[in-house]
Amino acid sequence: MSIGIFDSGIGGLTVFREVAKEFPQADIYYLGDTARVPYGNKSKETVIRYSVEAARYLTGFGIDALIVACNTASSYALETLKEMLDIPVIGVVKPGVEMALRKTKNKRVGVIGTLATIKSNSYRDLLNKRGIHVFQKPCPLFVPLVEEGIVEGEIAELVVRNYIDELVGEGIDTLILGCTHYPLLKDTIKKLYPEIEIVDSSQAIAEFLHNEDLKFNGRGSRRIFITDESESFKRLKTVLVGDIPVEKIELSE
Ligand code: SIN
Repeated sequence: MSIGIFDSGIGGLTVFREVAKEFPQADIYYLGDTARVPYGNKSKETVIRYSVEAARYLTGFGIDALIVACNTASSYALETLKEMLDIPVIGVVKPGVEMALRKTKNKRVGVIGTLATIKSNSYRDLLNKRGIHVFQKPCPLFVPLVEEGIVEGEIAELVVRNYIDELVGEGIDTLILGCTHYPLLKDTIKKLYPEIEIVDSSQAIAEFLHNEDLKFNGRGSRRIFITDESESFKRLKTVLVGDIPVEKIELSE
């Protein structure tokens, strides 16, 4: 069986890495829409259109399940993709919420993400239904920081504090990293707030797939596609998943 993973760019490789580790037999097709990243500042209509194009490309490989690794696409396009496809479509929001519910003790949870993800209230609405008090914050500087490879040190710490101090001040005990890029800042966040439980989409998805009991018995092949040559993608790709070749493709507008 094979699995498709799509993201707006680099960040979803954290999901790719985790899924590849947990399901070594799975054939995995990854698509990073590097020509159009970020999705987080686009309108809902545009995010849906991009997501549909990406999903169509990956389903061309006969995948058995689709993971929408991008939180913005998961927040805006999941229902459209589920209606359109006859395979399981798994977004990152529900698995992240399930993991947060298991981790929080005081029922006060912080959610950080792109402007679009926070505006969609996708995490907040699911958590509220389960009796959780939610404190949300968009962190628009995190994506460029990660793309530039600035994930630790003085500048990274300053930017992290700028956004997260306020949430910690609200007494949260758990923080959902609601954007695929943010797990790359996890070490810095943990260093600054060691008492806070972190929910990372990539681990939440892997755990969710195990619970769904999906069997991926392929040949363990991996292919990575991007829509634009990107130096930052290649650099981070090597750090995250080694020397799997990257193939450039076109998605129709
Ligand atoms: C983005 O495309 O803006 C970041 C990815 C995400 O929302 O997870």
